[in-house]
Amino acid sequence: MSDDIWILGITMTKFGKHPDLDTVDLAAQAAMAALADGGVTMADIGVLAAGNLIGGGGLGQQLQKQIGQTGIPVYNVSNACATGATALRTVIMAIKAGECDMGLAVGVEKLSGAGLLGAGGTAKSDKNVYEPSGRYGAVTNTDGRIGTNNMPGTFAQIGMEYGHKYGGTSFELFAKISEKNHSHSTLNPLAAYTKKMSLEQIMGDMMIAYPNTRPMCSANCDGGAAAVVISGAKLKTLSLEQQRRAVKVSASVLTSDPWSESCQVLPDVNTLTRMASTQAYEQAGVGPADLDLVELHDCFATAELVHYDNLQLCEQGGAVDFFTSGAPWRDGTMPVNVSGGLQSKGHPISATGIANIWEVCHHLRGEAGDRQIQGARVGLAHVIGLGSACGVHILEKSAA
Ligand SMILES: CC(C)(COP(=O)(O)OP(=O)(O)OC[C@H]1O[C@@H](n2cnc3c(N)ncnc32)[C@H](O)[C@@H]1OP(=O)(O)O)[C@@H](O)C(=O)NCCC(=O)NCCS
Repeated sequence: MSDDIWILGITMTKFGKHPDLDTVDLAAQAAMAALADGGVTMADIGVLAAGNLIGGGGLGQQLQKQIGQTGIPVYNVSNACATGATALRTVIMAIKAGECDMGLAVGVEKLSGAGLLGAGGTAKSDKNVYEPSGRYGAVTNTDGRIGTNNMPGTFAQIGMEYGHKYGGTSFELFAKISEKNHSHSTLNPLAAYTKKMSLEQIMGDMMIAYPNTRPMCSANCDGGAAAVVISGAKLKTLSLEQQRRAVKVSASVLTSDPWSESCQVLPDVNTLTRMASTQAYEQAGVGPADLDLVELHDCFATAELVHYDNLQLCEQGGAVDFFTSGAPWRDGTMPVNVSGGLQSKGHPISATGIANIWEVCHHLRGEAGDRQIQGARVGLAHVIGLGSACGVHILEKSAA
């Protein structure tokens, strides 16, 4: 039984359009790079968790054929946009349970050209009509009350709801959040889109679901990410350089929707995220003020705003003031989505949970190059998928 968990190696592939690589190729590329980053091989790995949503299952075993079949237990993981974070947590739990001292978590998706995703995660049909398709066709599907039945519609509504409740939001305010992330992305060579975008360009682009235009939506793209997780006891047996680069997992939390009397088909992304962040701060023994950077799930500009609040980066109802203060810019007091966020980095669904953690680790290791947050010691990575599942990890720089 080990309580002390570390990330030894972690990486992400370039996100974007990869027509020549399939799901297994991308997963293998990420996995091999994470092993190399940690200075270990598949022979050291005691458990594999492979996250994939769209591919149809069995990814872990297919991946083993590319990277090494050693007979270890494989967990194939699918948990909406929290799939990557869930794969990581699966490995963390196996190590905490004492079943092994090192494991590999991988998340991968081929999503380029997927088109509008239904609120259940899969691509919508082309028919331009509202189709109740819930259980036995008898129950309305997610977001049925509004009837958009797609991700952009659902998350647009979530931001608008925040504005109705607390005031201060506008089309321009949401676009400015996107302007920040696209500006950050210019320093991230692994992001799908690294172009700086002006407010005029963002607001003038194609409207997808008001108030989110196309660049205010997470980009459907291909990509993989992987992490090698290790127990503290095992880490102590490795080289000083491996110990110095290892990043401590101070909190690993996964939540789902608690039942509430409200509408069961209109998603509530807030309650489970607030629950997850509260548990994570308790587990890690740190508070929001201790964070040097945050990578949060900005699947749409509207979502980023509500998660400032849900992650308690500001007081309740204070997300607009938090943003307009300049805090979440890279040179602000609480940098958020320095990677460019899902809006620029892209959102190959199952890779995102690990990719967000990779970004935080990169800064804690002092390896983030031009976009480095100087002196970063503590960071938080967050993902949420409708259904719902929310993963929050708090990471700390090694003292070695
Ligand atoms: C917005 C959306 C509909 C656009 O999809 P699309 O029309 O197929 O867009 P494409 O990928 O063909 O992009 C067309 C062009 O628009 C621009 N573009 C698209 N998304 C962009 C973004 N996020 N930022 C900047 N430019 C973008 C690019 O110039 C792109 O061309 P290029 O890749 O050749 O340079 C799609 O990305 C989407 O549905 N996103 C949300 C995904 C989602 O719901 N995920 C789950 C959330 S929890």
